Amino acid sequence: MRTFTITTADAETSRIVCRKDILEQALPETLKAYRQVFLFSDETVWKIYGTRVRRAVGKAGVYCMLAGEAHKTPETLFSLLSAMAEAGLHRSDCLVCIGGGVVGDVGGLAAALYMRGIDCIQVPTTLLAQVDSSVGGKTAVDFCGIKNLVGVFRQPTYVYVDPAFLATLPAREIRCGLGEIIKHGALSPEIFDTLEQNRDKLTDLAFLADIVPANVAFKANVVREDAREGNLRKCLNLGHTTAHAFELLDGKLSHGEYVLIGTCIEAEISASRGGDAAYLARLGRLCLTALGTMPALPDPAEAARVACLDKKNTGRGRIVLTVPVAKGEYRLLELGAEEYERELGRIGRKLCSDLP
Ligand code: GLY
Repeated sequence: MRTFTITTADAETSRIVCRKDILEQALPETLKAYRQVFLFSDETVWKIYGTRVRRAVGKAGVYCMLAGEAHKTPETLFSLLSAMAEAGLHRSDCLVCIGGGVVGDVGGLAAALYMRGIDCIQVPTTLLAQVDSSVGGKTAVDFCGIKNLVGVFRQPTYVYVDPAFLATLPAREIRCGLGEIIKHGALSPEIFDTLEQNRDKLTDLAFLADIVPANVAFKANVVREDAREGNLRKCLNLGHTTAHAFELLDGKLSHGEYVLIGTCIEAEISASRGGDAAYLARLGRLCLTALGTMPALPDPAEAARVACLDKKNTGRGRIVLTVPVAKGEYRLLELGAEEYERELGRIGRKLCSDLP
């Protein structure tokens, strides 16, 4: 068992527990402290785990959203809030979110808003949610065509990470989690070396279960330092400006797959601006190994237009990227929309010609 505690500058505390048998042991034990709990999940996860969760938690209301990023909307958020209100949830009660990144983000926001904030317990069931989205208190829904436009920072009271959930994930979900794990590798030399040395095991469940705690520890350290993304936490946006633009425009792949593509592209952008080209090529290869094949990329002009809308930007037609520079090093790079468009065109042609 590994436990990490985050106490933020606002004195919010979050305890992240990585261990086996979460549903049978840790969760029921923790829930004894609450008068009433409410469960939030999605239909896919509930089909697999609903019976076990019910057995573990006992009497509790439940709301299941439709699975998928397309449903990370204000409508889903308010449907959940209505269900919580109908169940008579009180300020001292607790919302338990069981699922992947979308469930965690929507549920975290509902818990933050309901009666101005009730306790939230995250039980992440996907690799991506375990290593990234469940940790650190970012909550949001997409709005007006912009990802995560409406949300708050609010730390979950507990995050329970159990490797057993990885066993039921489809291969594509593993690939998505690898997007955020390789992003951590771009920021942490230790994680990068582990990934490179185990390149042939990237989808091996035992290997992944082993590296989840190191990824949680890395993210917890960043959040402890800068929970509200004033400075250091911006490193976690590495590859994400391009990923979010492609995701909004194209939408055929999942967030983590776009992070792999975004990291690859932003590594190329950095290499042409003085970054360590040999290292950045290794990072790009790691992304391509996880991705399998590079899909057709969206139109560069459209991608630049959408990237300008990203909330990470300063406005005025400039695009801010967190790019990898050298092993364990990153920087914020600001490009004009036209320059970014030219880079996407150039790199798109290069990546396609590099394919076997
Ligand atoms: N997923 C990036 C962050 O939590 O800051």
